[in-house]
Amino acid sequence: MSAKSESQKIIELNRRHTFFSWSVQSTVAPLAVVEAKGCYFWDADGKRYLDFSSQLMNVNTGHQHPKVVAAIKEQAEKLCYAYPGLATRPRGELGKLLAEVTPGDLTKTFFTLGGAEAVGNAIKLSRLYTGRQKIVTRYRSYHGATYGAISATGDPRRLPVEPGIPGIVRVFDPYCYRCVFGQERATCSRECITHIEEVIKFEGPDRIAAVLVEGVTGTSGIFVPPDDYWPRLREMCDKYSILLVADEVMSGFGRTGEWFGVDNWHVVPDVMILAKGLTAGHVPMGAVIVSQAIADHFEERYLPLGLTYSAHTLAAAAGVATVEAYQEDGLIENAKRMGRILGEGLEALKEKHASVGDVRYIGLFSVIELVKDKATKEPLAPWNAKPEELGVMAEVLPALRKRGLSAFVKWNWIFVIPPLSITEKELTEGLAIIDEVLEITDREAHS
Ligand SMILES: Cc1ncc(COP(=O)(O)O)c(C=O)c1O
Repeated sequence: MSAKSESQKIIELNRRHTFFSWSVQSTVAPLAVVEAKGCYFWDADGKRYLDFSSQLMNVNTGHQHPKVVAAIKEQAEKLCYAYPGLATRPRGELGKLLAEVTPGDLTKTFFTLGGAEAVGNAIKLSRLYTGRQKIVTRYRSYHGATYGAISATGDPRRLPVEPGIPGIVRVFDPYCYRCVFGQERATCSRECITHIEEVIKFEGPDRIAAVLVEGVTGTSGIFVPPDDYWPRLREMCDKYSILLVADEVMSGFGRTGEWFGVDNWHVVPDVMILAKGLTAGHVPMGAVIVSQAIADHFEERYLPLGLTYSAHTLAAAAGVATVEAYQEDGLIENAKRMGRILGEGLEALKEKHASVGDVRYIGLFSVIELVKDKATKEPLAPWNAKPEELGVMAEVLPALRKRGLSAFVKWNWIFVIPPLSITEKELTEGLAIIDEVLEITDREAHS
């Protein structure tokens, strides 16, 4: 019997003693990662991968950003942790920086450990501030896996753990390629927006605390909304005194070519939820930033929120360095520039391949949607496909990995979400690999 490789040893140890998320444990096939730099990482056997998902769409600065790593080292030498009742310089500096880079009068932050906790706390804050209970969210959305956040989520990850928290009301999404209203974007009456007002009326506007939606929908399909979508949501919320909460966990920190997804449409939400790109994966951290009015509300009222690791000192220092890295390296401008090249590349793939039904992109946030037939739009694997229903889609990730590309592949979607530091050469290299792998899916499609 041949000796086990270093990768095999690590994977076996992980598989025996640790759970892997969202999977039947016996079927997981992780890579064993030991090192990373910029847009690449290496497995324990020395194989290099181009990271086309920024890990979990969070390593926006690129891996091991030198400034962030240095800040973590420096802070770790001085003070790793102070309890949340104490003030620290990194915490204050990060709060100030976030007030500067977020739009409008978003001004005061409650720090969490990640996105889901930030969503849960945003729901609590919205209920406390308005005195109302209901939260409107969308079906094709993901907001995290704690009980509050998974309840707010629309995508099927919520189904096995339902019932969730009460008071969640869901509406449809701006998924123009498969519009539930049977419309086309160019000629529709924006039923995806107008029906939300109908739902609000039926649910009782004075019972609705917030409309909570992703800046641009992420892993539920990358839906770039029509240009009037966000401004009209803002108007609707103002009309009924409902808070507008933007979950920018995935679409924030330059991902869409602007600081935050909503900046593409110049809309200022009342509450913004942040995580992922806040520390670009170097250490865990999330945040909820609120408007001046909400901040003022709690000046004289009790704030019933708390976490042992809220505003963790090491994470706050990493956050400061990360935000400065976006500014100093021009990463958001690069995302916009590379986003144009990515868009052209994706359109070319759609033109060339029988199995590419749709491509959706904004900045470096994109997806390739695969179909059996461009005319009928029948998906190459069904929505919420079980492993045995994936068909040829099950071959895609192994084929990409074999060629040295790591990407996020789900159902009939291949996501392209690389670090914002990516170069044109790296982007072209990755797209060429996808081009090659699409030959496999084309075999199952009719042109
Ligand atoms: C839009 C959105 N919100 C919230 C979350 C939850 O974040 P976390 O996994 O850090 O809890 C995610 C995670 O993917 C997300 O994409």
